[in-house]
Amino acid sequence: MKQLCLSVLFVFFITLITKAAPGDVHIAIETRQTALVIRVDKDQSPTLVHLGSKLRNAAEYAAIPARGKRGEDYTDIYNSVYTPAGSRNLLEPAIQVTHADGNPSLDLKYIRHESQSMADGVVLTKVYLKDPQYPFEVTLYYKAYQNEDVIEQWSTIRHTEKKSITLHKYASANLYIPAQNYYLTHFHGDWANEMNPSEIPLTEGIKILDSKLGTRADLFQPPSFLVSLNKPAEEEQGEVIAGTLSWSGNYQLAFEVDPLHNLRIIPGINPYASAYSLAPGTEFTTPAFLFTYSDKGKGGASRSLHRWARKHRIPQGEGNRLTLLNNWEATYFDFNEEKLSALFKDGKKLGVDLFLLDDGWFGNKYPRNNDRAGLGDWQENVKKLPHGLGYLVKEAENAGIKFGIWLEPEMVSPKSELYEKHPDWVIKLANRSEYYFRNQLVLDLSNPKVQDFVYGVVNDLMTKNPTLGFIKWDCNAVIYNAFSATIQNQSNLYVDYVQGLYKVLDRLRAKYPTLPMMLCSGGGGRVDYGALKYFTEYWPSDNTDAQERIFIQWNYSYFFPSIASCNHVTDWGKQPIKFRTDVAMMGKLGYDIVVSKLTEEELTFSQQALKTYEGIKNIIWKGDLYRLASPYTNDVASSMYVSESRDRAVWFTYLVNSRYKAGSQAPIKLNGLDPAKNYRIRELNVYPGTTSRINTSTTTYSGNYLMAIGFNPQVDTRRTSVVLEVNEVK
Ligand code: GLA
Repeated sequence: MKQLCLSVLFVFFITLITKAAPGDVHIAIETRQTALVIRVDKDQSPTLVHLGSKLRNAAEYAAIPARGKRGEDYTDIYNSVYTPAGSRNLLEPAIQVTHADGNPSLDLKYIRHESQSMADGVVLTKVYLKDPQYPFEVTLYYKAYQNEDVIEQWSTIRHTEKKSITLHKYASANLYIPAQNYYLTHFHGDWANEMNPSEIPLTEGIKILDSKLGTRADLFQPPSFLVSLNKPAEEEQGEVIAGTLSWSGNYQLAFEVDPLHNLRIIPGINPYASAYSLAPGTEFTTPAFLFTYSDKGKGGASRSLHRWARKHRIPQGEGNRLTLLNNWEATYFDFNEEKLSALFKDGKKLGVDLFLLDDGWFGNKYPRNNDRAGLGDWQENVKKLPHGLGYLVKEAENAGIKFGIWLEPEMVSPKSELYEKHPDWVIKLANRSEYYFRNQLVLDLSNPKVQDFVYGVVNDLMTKNPTLGFIKWDCNAVIYNAFSATIQNQSNLYVDYVQGLYKVLDRLRAKYPTLPMMLCSGGGGRVDYGALKYFTEYWPSDNTDAQERIFIQWNYSYFFPSIASCNHVTDWGKQPIKFRTDVAMMGKLGYDIVVSKLTEEELTFSQQALKTYEGIKNIIWKGDLYRLASPYTNDVASSMYVSESRDRAVWFTYLVNSRYKAGSQAPIKLNGLDPAKNYRIRELNVYPGTTSRINTSTTTYSGNYLMAIGFNPQVDTRRTSVVLEVNEVK
């Protein structure tokens, strides 16, 4: 057995060590379609000479001219793979350091590289760099996911200087791309208004996207972007790079069009207030930057990221998810055992898998009856829940559904026993007045004792209630007055906080690998692939108005697969329940409504919709997404999900314009089908008492026809949302 394991390991981990040879060395990091090529010249300076389509013959990478150099590069390192500051560099650096002796310069020379083939078509390439004057080393890591066309890049930094050094900047990657023009799409917003896209041409100079919020870091903008080369991004055409940083803290994405009109992209942790002190003999690992290059526009890029995330990043990314009924908008803080028991029965009647008890169940000295008290005191409130959580879990199970719970374990209310007992566990400045975000403060997760506490909160809950089926992990405050009572170097705090959080989540995931956990941060304040390594799903926004959600979900879909998007039917907005349900179905369906207030028809519709969802959810969650008509340029938003074998698709179209005659006036061209297959189209989620205009026809269409000519889902002001199933006819 041992021998078998060793030989399997041998097959998977073939290590190729390549010594720097005289002359240029070429290191090709390749996926199925893409290549990133590093050239090392005789000076041992590593530069990036190609990022784009993979060549059939890798030997030809050596022939690529230094085409980025459309003029004079005074330094020869404008296209450095990891630009060191302070020596001959003139542009935005990837790394900036002050050595132990106070010297502020760095040079990085190529030492060697090696590649390892791992399981599932993943190849890890390491490029070792060193400063010729100092015992200071950087290793660049490139993990190439062959089948998904995604590259994950990060670096490690270590030194054996006499004392600690200061890292002023320590980016994750440093890309270099020559094109005629560059268009950056970035996303911005605020609470309940997440992910508004802006596309701008990049001109000479630097555009910085960043966060300085600490915890709820993505509140104003996420660390995710699209760069389109030569022309504005299109859905299914053109060269697009989609990039996203796996980091749940302060980040900086720098886009610099250099003096030669080439684009430099430098993503990483935000250097703001984060000069990092690194002791000799220790290693700093940057977060990973993930990117994909597509020559099939935004659609190609997002399909690659989705495939990658399902297979390699999100826990149970290719598994199942639970439908649920949440009580937040139904009760807010006002509930008791009786009310909850009734809700369990409602959930069962509706047909969901789980009941999720939201905020308000804890705190005794300072009961959590509003958002001004109780965070940190994770004991059941004895007035609301005299029999404790264990009783509720059983009650739910007796009603035939699972039970899940809301937590916000990184936070503390000033009015809490936790704050009284451990004021030194709280991030705050002793000589400044406390400043609150949603009436609360952040616990200092750089402190190992606080990490143990947060781990303990979840672990105790799970130990006492082993059948607890779901956790919603919230994070509603940013960091103000950043100061830790225990940390030595205050400027390490923002980074150590996130690393502390990941340590807690690593421990929890090691013990509870399959527990479904929702990532929430007052909505989408923390939607990034650093956090999504631990969470099975995320809450895109507290804004659940279905009309708004069409846009919010549309924009998240560039980066994150629908299996991870928690979409709840709620009472926000004025749309009929059919519209709300159809929109919520484009992801992981849930409910946050008062079931007992639904009319009979609404209830029947919802029960049927949940049954229908059961039959199509795997296509929505795991199929390829094609965005067919954008709500930004059409009366309708239209997207479809196609199964891997292209025999089934689910197609959603919604009206987003309420003007007279607004609707899908013409056929919409489908995508992703097999041109040679024949399909029949059937309408789903038909509201009780109405008839489908589509189901009356028995016509079959070839995939070729549906993709070249299209089909009109007949969305108009009387049919504001239409869900169609496209099934192969054999
Ligand atoms: C945040 C979440 C909501 C809800 C409340 C509870 O705002 O985004 O979904 O859980 O907290 O306080």
